[in-house]
This record gives sequence, structure tokens and C-alpha cells, in this order.
Amino acid sequence: MCGIVGYLGDTEAAPVIFESLKRLEYRGYDSYGFATLKNKEFFIKKGEGKISDASIQNLSRGLPGFMGVGHSRWATHGKVSAENSHPHTDCNGDFLVVHNGIIENYQELRKELKVKGHRFRSDTDTEIIPHLIEEYSELGFEDAVKKAVSRLKGRYAIVTLSRESDKIIGVRRGSPLIVGVKNNVKDSSKGSGKGLSKKRKEYFLASDIPAFLKHTSNVMYLDDEEMVVIDRTGRGIKFYSMENGKEIEKRIVNIGWDPGQAEKNGFEHFMLKEIMEQKDTIRMAINQNMEDIERISKDIKNAFGTFFTGCGTAGNVCLAGEYIFSKVAGKHINFIVSSEFPNYHHFMTDKTLLIAISQSGETADLLEAIEAAKKKHVRIISLVNVMGSSLDRKSDHSFLINAGPEKAVASTKAATSQLALVTLLAYACAGKLDEGRRLLIETASKVNDMINPRYEKHIRGLAEKIHSKENMYIIGRSLNYPMALESAIKIQEVSYIHAQGFAGGELKHGPLALIDKGTPCIALVANDEVKNDIISNAVEIKSRGGYIIGVAPENNEVFDYWIKVPDVGNASPIVNIIPIQILAYHLAILRGHDPDYPKNLAKSVTVK
Ligand code: M6R
Repeated sequence: MCGIVGYLGDTEAAPVIFESLKRLEYRGYDSYGFATLKNKEFFIKKGEGKISDASIQNLSRGLPGFMGVGHSRWATHGKVSAENSHPHTDCNGDFLVVHNGIIENYQELRKELKVKGHRFRSDTDTEIIPHLIEEYSELGFEDAVKKAVSRLKGRYAIVTLSRESDKIIGVRRGSPLIVGVKNNVKDSSKGSGKGLSKKRKEYFLASDIPAFLKHTSNVMYLDDEEMVVIDRTGRGIKFYSMENGKEIEKRIVNIGWDPGQAEKNGFEHFMLKEIMEQKDTIRMAINQNMEDIERISKDIKNAFGTFFTGCGTAGNVCLAGEYIFSKVAGKHINFIVSSEFPNYHHFMTDKTLLIAISQSGETADLLEAIEAAKKKHVRIISLVNVMGSSLDRKSDHSFLINAGPEKAVASTKAATSQLALVTLLAYACAGKLDEGRRLLIETASKVNDMINPRYEKHIRGLAEKIHSKENMYIIGRSLNYPMALESAIKIQEVSYIHAQGFAGGELKHGPLALIDKGTPCIALVANDEVKNDIISNAVEIKSRGGYIIGVAPENNEVFDYWIKVPDVGNASPIVNIIPIQILAYHLAILRGHDPDYPKNLAKSVTVK
């Protein structure tokens, strides 16, 4: 949560930072702040609300200089206010810091610094960092940062500037921070960069790649416990280990994403754009090295206990994976939700295999699960979207799901890509890789046919009927039970309708009491062995007055509203969740909410 950016180059920093930050807004959108540095003077501006609601002209005015930082906040410590928004400075305004993450020992450090005479202006944990740098400033900027950071506990990434230096420093410990490098600057922007060589590099620091993708797809990854120092004077970049202070060699990697993938491209919202991209992304997810698929599926088969872990939507994919492996491969895999993993892993050994699923690869709960597993020497296989993310780097083997940047808070295309890959692995584990591939290629092509404007309009028609309801329920059985849970998350997070998913068979054990006349209930149906049972559950709801929405390959007399999905056998979770994503999107719009920025949430949950 929170997005941080830094820039050092040959163009005016403020507009670059503003644009970069807008692309990171999905990480936090309570408030924002910028700072630039010119002639040993800081220029700072802060505001409440979304940065995209602010005007670039107003913000850039009075922010001169070719280096600077920016921050988009998701409040953790201290209310949403201009004082609490970043950057934060030390007593004399010599150092400033933007920060993503949590400093766990900030209270004791704050007490200690106050006793030493430091004056605090905000309620944040972040503000102790510039004061600590100030405290050690006699060591010089780089060493002061190292010393300050050695006092901090928690997971975080910071970017810091010193008024007296031409350097921008970033530190990563548990929260993402990536460096973008643009080579061969052809031309300096108007009025700037006089005397700069045409071959000088531009550097970007950011919590996520889309922030600078418009400028470059060349990145250098910082690992945890590493510091990067970018020097404007020599235009050099150096990486250091925070553990032993030694310099580290880094490669530039091209991540192969195209800048257009991180833009709305004519869609009003990222969420709808990403839903529509599922026409292609399912096929891209299964575009894997088949030898790797065979090898890892053998490992899964032979492991002495294989587990899935993930959070939120990725967690629902894990649960679906449990069912898919059971049904397709006759293999027992348990799902442990990542936040509970540290409380339920004591029996694991070096023969255990953990499959971690995550879009961002930066979710704090998931990374903690990985750490706990690694302490037990468990092997980690990941299904992840972001190349070079913490999860990707910490895994023994990662499969990239190739969905391209997912920016809406609600996970849509990443979820179906993860489902496709899990299904492929299950088929491979059953010794039926070709059958699995054929099924998924057919599914991808049927999804392509399914998602069209007429289909969207039909679902919008349903949203118009039910958008004023305050409760909704979703039922599924077998492979579609996890999709009932996933449907509930989608509807809750963007429309704020209270939605709950149940296993169809559980209704009579309690939830049936919630059904009133006209309560919308969605039944997720596939042409499988539980079809009749789930239809019976729908009948039970209908006889209590419920309004039945059937998501199914065929219509049924119990449905009050039917949304047709293709019949794709064991790939039914993929096709059944897509209409619910579209429904959630339209419910949000009709209720006047911005589906890309749900209240209280952020895309990447990098705090515990
Ligand atoms: O990046 P991850 O896949 O690890 O994120 C996990 C969850 O935070 C995420 O799926 C969340 O539940 C989504 N907002 C749901 O749409």
C-alpha cells in the first residue's frame, strides 16, 4: 500500500513524478505529496484526496528541478491530512523521505528522538526516518541513511533526498522498490539540461513498474536489505548490501511489457479494460515451457505434502486449485490462507512443496508465509504476474502468468490466468497435459466469443434490476464453490453490497434464514455431477422468495435471470467468474462508485 516514486534525469522532475504517481494511485489514494530539489533547496507540495483529481499545472508550478520524489498514501499511522502525507522532513528540512510499509518500532524511536530534541510535525511512523538521518548526518548522507535504516524494524521501502547532496537513495526491506533506467536521452526538455551529454541516463524509482513504463521497460531489481544510490553529478548508479555494506553488481532486465498495457486505452475504467482483456490473457497464461510444467507437476505428485497459499482472490484460486487437483489428478493439496500460514505450518519439512499464488508477488501476508516456509526448508513454487517481484525472486521456481499489468484493485484477469495455469498443472499431474492444454485453448476461444458488447449489455440489464439491493448471496458446489466465494469478494469490494458466497449444501445449515422476498441469489452452475444438487439448492432459495440468477450453460425454469456461459467441463470456474466480474463492475457504476478505487482498499497489500 502507498506508492512511492523518485526521478533523476534531464527533464523537469515534477510532471514526470506526477504522471508516475497517477499510475501508482491504485496502491493508495487518500492523499499525496511531491518534492523536488534544485540549488540545494527543497520544493514541497501536498494534498488530500486522489492525485488524479489534482491539476498537473497547479501541482508542477513552483516545483523546479530535475530530481525529486512523490508519494500516494494509504493511511496506516495518522489520519488522512496534509500534515500526515509524505514526504516528511527532519527538524531543519535537510532530509526528506517517502515511505511505503510500516516501521514497527516507531514509538520507541520517536520517544528517543524527542528526548534528543527532535520536533515532530505528523502522527506518522515515517517521520522518524528523516529525523534519524539527521541524527547521524555527520556520517555523510549515504552512511547516515545506512545507520538510520539499521535502527528500523518492519517491512518498508523508502526513497530519500538530502538538500546538500545530488543523490537520491532508495532502500528496500520487504516492500517493493524497482529502478527503471532509460538510456540515450536524445534531447533534454525545453529550458533544461544545459550541457548534459546526450548519452546520460534517466533513472526512475517506483513501487511498481507501471509508474515508469511509459519511459522505459528496462529495470534493475533491488532485493531486500539493499540500498541504491543514484548520483546526479556523475549520473552513476550503485547498489549496496545493507547487511555487509559491500557494493553489488546488478543487471538491467527488459521486462517485455508494452506501455499501452498500463493505460486505459479508451475504457472508462481499468477494471472493465482488464475484464475484456481476458479474451487474450487465458491463452497467454498457458503459454508456458511445457517441460517446466511436466517437471513441476512431477514434483507436486511426489512431494510429501503439497500446499497452496494466497490471499483474497488469489486465495480463492488456491481453493479452486484444491478442488481441481482432487478431481483431475486425484491429488490432495491443502490450501492455507497466507495470513494464517505462520500459525499452521509446524509439520512441514524439506520434503514439503508450497505453491504460492499472487498477482503482485508483494502481498505482505504471503511473503511472511514464504519466510515461515523457508525456515522449514520447504520448496516454493509460485504462480505470479509481476516479474522480479519479491515472490518471484524468493521462489525456487516461478511461473509467470503473463496477464500484463493489472491496475484495478479488483483482481479479474489475473484470477482467470491463475485458474488456467492451476488447471494445466493439475492435468499435467494426472499425466494428461495435452488434454489439459486442449481444454484450456478451447476455453480461451470460448471466452473470446463470450465477452462481447451484447453480453455486457445483458449483464448490465441485471445490474439495473438489482443495484439497489443491500444483500446478495452466491452459491456453488465442487469447482464452483470457490468461485461463489470469489463472486462475493468481487461484488463486495467494488459495489459495497453485502455479498456472501456459500457451498450450496451449507444453505440449510444456516444461511437460508437470510433469504427474503426478492433477495438476489446467484447460482453458479456447470454441466457436472453436482448440477442437479445446485439446481435443487436454487429451488430451495426460490421457495423462500429469493430471486434466482443462474450462471449456467443451459437455462432452467428456476432461473429468474439467466446468464449463459459456455460448457467447458473442468474449466468452468474460469467462465463462471467472468460474468460476475462484469456484474460487479456495473453494480459499482450504478451505485455511483469508482470501481478502480474502492474505499478503504489498495491494490497491493504490503502491510500485515
Ligand atoms: O497481489 P495478490 O494476488 O497477492 O493480492 C491478493 C489480494 O490482496 C487480492 O487478490 C485482493 O483480494 C483483490 N483486491 C481482490 O479482487
